[in-house]
Amino acid sequence: MIYKVTTTRKPTHTGIDAPRTAAYHTSSPNSPSLSTDSVTVQRIHNFSAGPAVLPEPVLSAAREHLLSLGETGIGILEHSHRGDTFGEVLSSAETRIRRLANIPDDVAVLFLQGGASLQFAMVPANLRPANTIADYIISGTWSLKAMEAAQSDGAVHVASSSQDSVFRSLPGPPQCSDSPAYLHYTSNNTIAGTQFSTPPNPPRGVPLVCDASSDIFSRPIDLNAHDLVYAGAQKNLGPAGLTLVMIRRTLLDTAVDSLPAINRYITHANAGSLYNTPPVFSIFVTNLVLEWLEEQGGLSAIAERNRTQASRLYERIDASRVLSGRADISARSLMNVVFSAGSQSADDRFVEHCHRAGLVGLRGHRSVGGLRASLYNAQPDAAVDRLLEVIDAFEAEQAE
Ligand SMILES: Cc1ncc(COP(=O)(O)O)c(C=O)c1O
Repeated sequence: MIYKVTTTRKPTHTGIDAPRTAAYHTSSPNSPSLSTDSVTVQRIHNFSAGPAVLPEPVLSAAREHLLSLGETGIGILEHSHRGDTFGEVLSSAETRIRRLANIPDDVAVLFLQGGASLQFAMVPANLRPANTIADYIISGTWSLKAMEAAQSDGAVHVASSSQDSVFRSLPGPPQCSDSPAYLHYTSNNTIAGTQFSTPPNPPRGVPLVCDASSDIFSRPIDLNAHDLVYAGAQKNLGPAGLTLVMIRRTLLDTAVDSLPAINRYITHANAGSLYNTPPVFSIFVTNLVLEWLEEQGGLSAIAERNRTQASRLYERIDASRVLSGRADISARSLMNVVFSAGSQSADDRFVEHCHRAGLVGLRGHRSVGGLRASLYNAQPDAAVDRLLEVIDAFEAEQAE
């Protein structure tokens, strides 16, 4: 079903609190004027694994601020990253992250680029001294990729793995090497549809590193239990282009001297994430998403909504005569519900049903096939309602 969004309102959410000083007044007859005409767009429900659905009020606000951020007369894409206006956006985003996730003072918040994939390389380059080993928990494709990146120029050890179950389950407790530089895990496995409910326990004194790309801020996160958490923004935080890194300050400056400045965490921490031009627009939109998240009641409230949505869908799949879930029940992800209609052709028919109903992004990752419904923070309940209706209709058709 296609639904319409009409906006006539003037921009209100800038994501920063203070009103901006107008560079020129839009109502002056001699100045360029900005259109605030109403615009009607057609939107459908997006279950894509990322880039993914974002909150509609955020998209509307972002669109308005393309022309003029607040009353500055300059759009967000045109503001200098060194100017006061963007400075307020950046500091507002950091304040919100600290407030939402209760980040302790001894953890630095960095706004980087290069996606989670660059972190696959930056983590070992910064945290693994020469001739030491980095330990990895292998729970899916992305943790394998993280380990492969670390393996390209140093030693790694598989502390535990669920590859034998084709990642349908989660690995058992880690069996670490002697004095590893760190233990790395992936909190939510976007492709396999599994998720750790609590962080693994590293041996005493061993830093715990988490790739939280597909469940960041979908639930409360304990930064006291972690030493480095990174996430590409494009699922739960905002647009692609931004990578959030939260790192204990004692680990900022542990890289070998030969590592180029741009690849060192300390460089970005010392420069307040402005060592080079940051992804200005992604940070701006992320700040709006964080504001929206606060309005929803914060991480506990959003976790409750995510749990309810996922439970409704899993319950329906479990009760279905034609659909089946992929992951072990105890390992199921609340973010990525991976399932199948039993065969490639049945999956194709299901996707066809979804398209006719205005639901997109439900194909499973190409490496595993099947179906996947991603239920990130911004997924509206109406999308899940609609998907459940499609399942009913699909099942009825199969029974004919
Ligand atoms: C858990 C996880 N880690 C890493 C990545 C790779 O992220 P990027 O494309 O930002 O490098 C993804 C992408 O989907 C992911 O889901």
